[in-house]
Amino acid sequence: GWKMENISDEEIKVIRDTVGAEDHVICALSGGVDSTVAATLVHKAIGDRLHCVFVDNGLLRYKERERVMETFERDLHLPVTCIDASEQFLRELKGVVDPEVKRKIIGKEFIGIFDAFAHDLEQKLGKKPLYLVQGTLYPDVIESCPPPGSGRNHSHTIKSHHNVGGLPKDMKLKLIEPLKLLFKDEVRHLGRILNVPEAFLKRHPFPGPGLAVRVLGDVTEGNALEVLREVDEIFIQAIKDYGLYDLIWQAFAVFLPVKSVGVQGDQRTHSHVVSLRAVSSEDGMTADWYYFEEKFLRYVSLKICNSVRGVNRVTQDITSKPPSTIEWE
Ligand code: XMP
Repeated sequence: GWKMENISDEEIKVIRDTVGAEDHVICALSGGVDSTVAATLVHKAIGDRLHCVFVDNGLLRYKERERVMETFERDLHLPVTCIDASEQFLRELKGVVDPEVKRKIIGKEFIGIFDAFAHDLEQKLGKKPLYLVQGTLYPDVIESCPPPGSGRNHSHTIKSHHNVGGLPKDMKLKLIEPLKLLFKDEVRHLGRILNVPEAFLKRHPFPGPGLAVRVLGDVTEGNALEVLREVDEIFIQAIKDYGLYDLIWQAFAVFLPVKSVGVQGDQRTHSHVVSLRAVSSEDGMTADWYYFEEKFLRYVSLKICNSVRGVNRVTQDITSKPPSTIEWE
């Protein structure tokens, strides 16, 4: 029958049969639910012949590297190498303002780092890793090519071009995609069976280019990234404290490349403006801006201005998708 316990056991068996008893597998962990669940499943199947890598691109949220590494290592015992490539990414992004150019640069740098990781691993093992794990979901594949006989409902699609095709095509790695017949809810269910922490399974989506598309314009300008991290953390923590996190599809702060005049104490200030974005959505294709109660908004706005140096104005984005997109860039 269609029971997740059976699916988990069957997938583990399929992975074992595919990889055999000798070969090695690599996996890039993004910090998201899909790659984490996929890696956990493969780890159950072949143990430490799985080699994961997590890249800190300098565009992660407040304490994100520490937090996801703790889940990978302490909760899931995944064999994972953390590569801090912040300086390299930020160097390449200096002066870049076009959102699509930012995405291209980030994609290219990532591939370079992943390649180097695979190469180092080959040196260490004395043989090439042959397989690559990807957390591709069913909705990611059906648009182009629905698996025959899968009996799935094709009207259920999400925009996925952001997530697919992000890894080197010339590496000749064979793909292992253990989630490719599952929807997001089913991946969460599978994650639960595999003991992935509940809070991790419920995390909001986060774009691959990270904070680069949330600092409008040049991300390396001044202390934009640090300011954004602090503001975002206050906003998200407040959403959790008010019990709203699971009601919202995605929430985040945006750093605007403008300054406004303010007054703090008896000092005039000329500081940064941030915007808060929260939306409800089913699949990210369309979204409604989220209506917070007054008490929440007063608390967040005051807390941000009082505790983040260099911010004197907080705005809220009250546009839905369409006409806006969820991200600002
Ligand atoms: P938009 O802004 O297009 O976003 O309404 C829809 C969903 O996609 C995410 N998003 C991205 N994810 N790489 C990603 O992996 C990207 O370049 C990217 N751009 C947007 C966005 O966060 C939302 O969940």
